[in-house]
Amino acid sequence: MKPRKIKDNVYWMGAIDWDRRLFDSLIPLPDGTSYNAYLVEGKERTALVDSVNPPMADELLSQLEGVPKIDYVISHHAEQDHSGSIPHVLRKFPEAKVVSTPQGKDMLKDLLGIAEERFHPVKDGETIPLGGKTLKFITTPWVHWPETMVTYLEEDKILFSCDFFGSHIATSDLYVTDEGRVYEAAKRYYAEIMMPFRNVIEKNLKKIDGYEIAMIAPSHGPLYPLPSFILEAYRDWVMGPPRNKVVLPYVSMHNSTKKMVDYLVSSLVEQEIMVEQFNLAVTDIGKLAINLVDAGTIVLGTPTVLGNPHPLAGYAAFLANAIRPKAKFISIIGSYGWGGKTVEVLAGLIPNLKVEVLEPVLGKGLPKEKEFGALDKLAETIKAKHKEAGLV
Ligand code: FEO
Repeated sequence: MKPRKIKDNVYWMGAIDWDRRLFDSLIPLPDGTSYNAYLVEGKERTALVDSVNPPMADELLSQLEGVPKIDYVISHHAEQDHSGSIPHVLRKFPEAKVVSTPQGKDMLKDLLGIAEERFHPVKDGETIPLGGKTLKFITTPWVHWPETMVTYLEEDKILFSCDFFGSHIATSDLYVTDEGRVYEAAKRYYAEIMMPFRNVIEKNLKKIDGYEIAMIAPSHGPLYPLPSFILEAYRDWVMGPPRNKVVLPYVSMHNSTKKMVDYLVSSLVEQEIMVEQFNLAVTDIGKLAINLVDAGTIVLGTPTVLGNPHPLAGYAAFLANAIRPKAKFISIIGSYGWGGKTVEVLAGLIPNLKVEVLEPVLGKGLPKEKEFGALDKLAETIKAKHKEAGLV
């Protein structure tokens, strides 16, 4: 794709990765993604903002064909989907310097072998004038690694935000046209990589609050000409309370746990609690992550296998522990054949979650009156707990 003009002397460059379906060999990308780079041309100097994933380097280099010189390559984040083609750019433009945080410099040296003399490290708040275009660098750690920063283009009031506010969507739309689609993709991205660092993200949001932002230009997905849409969404995900909602990831082998899940879902609905259930044998873990962003309670459903929770339930617990949702309560339901340590093992997998554990419901074989009664009681307890916590 050819460069696309955003403002006078500001262009989108980069690559749209329509076919990519997995990130970090872990994160599903149902809609592909894009690697957005930007060219900012001042009267005296020119800057390239980020680069692209290395397999797509040729696309960026062909977009740079007519560009006589690059003085600065702004590297917001050392992860290779944005930085990986910087060595190609540096070979093409031998006078170019890489602008990054000092931490970013160390990471880029480690990950890409860029030589010390090619760097121009910047401090928080530092500016680089290009001639009629001024780049201001704002450190924003943990969006998504510790070294990250964003760039504010003062004259045009554009915030180049890299992963921050990004969405994994491959689209020919330069700007957001379908807010519902972008909302879900951006929430998925936030849940998967930023939610664990919520407290720092809150500080970053407050830090950029002080800037008048006319447009947010992330490094994944479409640009936001109306930034309030994504800023308000982030404020809600980061600072808002969880909802009157139960997320119920489960796995069932012979239908006993499934019967308990179905019964509990019905009972929760009677209590006017929203429920999202996910069969871990077939679910997209990104969908689960999206729903963990604002769940008030998590209930894990699992059979006991060789004395332990089913490995897929262990995986879900491990994932929840890693991404640290703001849920306030958790419980476990499921079946067993002859005994085991399902509850103890799962509880040991979630030390990061600040949750109150509600009485688990485990039954031998198919659920019977006793288990159904306990599931009704669990639904009532969740309702009462949500009320107490102000979620209803
Ligand atoms: Fe899009 Fe953390 O890289």
